[in-house]
Amino acid sequence: SGPEVYTATGRALDADPTVRSQTGSRLTTAQGLRLYDTDHSLKAGERGPVLLQDHHLREKITHFDHERIPERVVHARGAAAHGVFRGYGTASNICKAAFLGKDVETPVFVRFSTVLGSRGSADTVRDTRGFATKFYTQQGVFDLVGNNIPVFFIQDAIKFPDIIHAGKPHPDREIPQAQSAHDTFWDFVSLHTEAAHHTLWNMSDRGIPRSFRMMEGFGVHTFRLVDEQGGTTLVKFHWKPRLGVHSLTWEEAQITGGVDPDFHRRDLADAIEAGAFPEWELGIQTFPDNPEQTFRGIDLLDPTKIVPEEWAPVQPIGLMTLTANPSNFFAETEQVAFHPGHLVPGIDITDDPLLAGRLFSYIDTQITRLGGPNFAQIPVNRPHAPINDMLRDGLHQTAVHSGVAPYRPNSLDGGCPFLAGAADGAYVETPVTVPESTKVRAAPASFADHTSHPRRFYLSLDPVEREHVIAAYTFELSKCYEQAVKERNLRVLADIDPELCAGVAAGLGLPAPEPSGPLPDVEPSPALSQLGHTWPTD
Ligand code: HEM
Repeated sequence: SGPEVYTATGRALDADPTVRSQTGSRLTTAQGLRLYDTDHSLKAGERGPVLLQDHHLREKITHFDHERIPERVVHARGAAAHGVFRGYGTASNICKAAFLGKDVETPVFVRFSTVLGSRGSADTVRDTRGFATKFYTQQGVFDLVGNNIPVFFIQDAIKFPDIIHAGKPHPDREIPQAQSAHDTFWDFVSLHTEAAHHTLWNMSDRGIPRSFRMMEGFGVHTFRLVDEQGGTTLVKFHWKPRLGVHSLTWEEAQITGGVDPDFHRRDLADAIEAGAFPEWELGIQTFPDNPEQTFRGIDLLDPTKIVPEEWAPVQPIGLMTLTANPSNFFAETEQVAFHPGHLVPGIDITDDPLLAGRLFSYIDTQITRLGGPNFAQIPVNRPHAPINDMLRDGLHQTAVHSGVAPYRPNSLDGGCPFLAGAADGAYVETPVTVPESTKVRAAPASFADHTSHPRRFYLSLDPVEREHVIAAYTFELSKCYEQAVKERNLRVLADIDPELCAGVAAGLGLPAPEPSGPLPDVEPSPALSQLGHTWPTD
């Protein structure tokens, strides 16, 4: 027998009352009125005019006219699957989240995506991949909304509209940039050197994964775990694929994109249907929660930086297995709404300024995308924990709230006048000291280092991987129309590595600029090479 088919609610297909199978001979309107014909409009005679009084015609066409909803403003193209996460219990000494307990099984829904392309774009483009996981825990939904690249282009969310405007299809011609670069993206990254690290990862083989099943995933930001006694540990989340990390070559990506633009979504669905369930281990790098929030000089609040795995090994804390394809793309893959602020007791955020903006942005965009504030009621978004919120009314409200006093405390509804305390498993924010109280629009000095981390990444690559990086920069920059944009990017590369800069300059037929100063003295981190990938528990 094949894998069990699940619906958006996570229940087996035949057990779910919300499913409309759309099979059988009994056809109705949305009101349940039985129809005898859905192929002909009501007319005044066979050759006469169509009558406006045909409710079935108007209902059918009106509904069709409104079938499309706005695509995501980023990460529009995606594919998803249901699965299960099993905790190892190895994090329980530093994190009280129940779903991380030994052998606790939690249903999950995972959506993989590209960032820049529209819903109908090709899978195999050079781009970052989204890796978003919804854990339906007994304590509420926890979303780990990550990417397949461990760093981000910018350090402050206020720049997110800018980097996305620069990276999305060219505003005048709507020509996508993820496939062949155009000037705005390269203009942006040459003027914002903090983007150099993420760009280098994009130009490496990581930018063109072989399969979603063969990608690492990263939470990117540093999070704060909290234990039963209130003790805290800073962590970075990693997903490690059992199949290893593999990429397409550029030529393979080009051919595959032409022959089968759905290559990655087909690969994921086919593997699951065949019973070859993809697996990832969830792991954490842990750091002491010191007041500086640094580890060996690395600012843990800077999302353009990573901590080498050789300095802080990834410790496995659970296993995720994807076991079922969605039964309805729209209901599940399209309507799922992730949010980095969906947390459970034991997991808290840090003051990374990029994360702060994300906490605002996702719910805001989803109110537009999913038509109002009630999208948590959509089956795929429903928590698998009891709900008793005070949220009422609004567009697309499907719940029937019965109390007469939707506020707390109240003396009318027989409701408990006080909210349950932490002892009952409530989420209590970690009492973190806020270090500064002066309002500033400024970044800390540590955010100014834009070269040491990309340099470490480049030096960690195998010679073949480096060749691919040089070829990728050369190809992409050769598509820029503006000479000044090419030259400015070469200056960025000169400050990362002279070999890299010289290789790209030679490919472009331009002189290689000198570094602007001494190069940072960094050691390679072998784990950053795809060839250095290991399954943590091996
Ligand atoms: C969507 C990851 C930064 C705004 C997504 C998705 C992922 C993701 C994986 C797709 C979710 C899905 O499959 O439905 C990340 C990561 C970031 C980052 C790892 C940096 C570490 C930001 C920032 C902003 C932002 C800084 C805005 C300030 C959005 C928006 C969506 C989105 C608006 C669309 C959400 C929706 O329509 O449901 N992001 N993102 N992201 N992201 Fe981010």
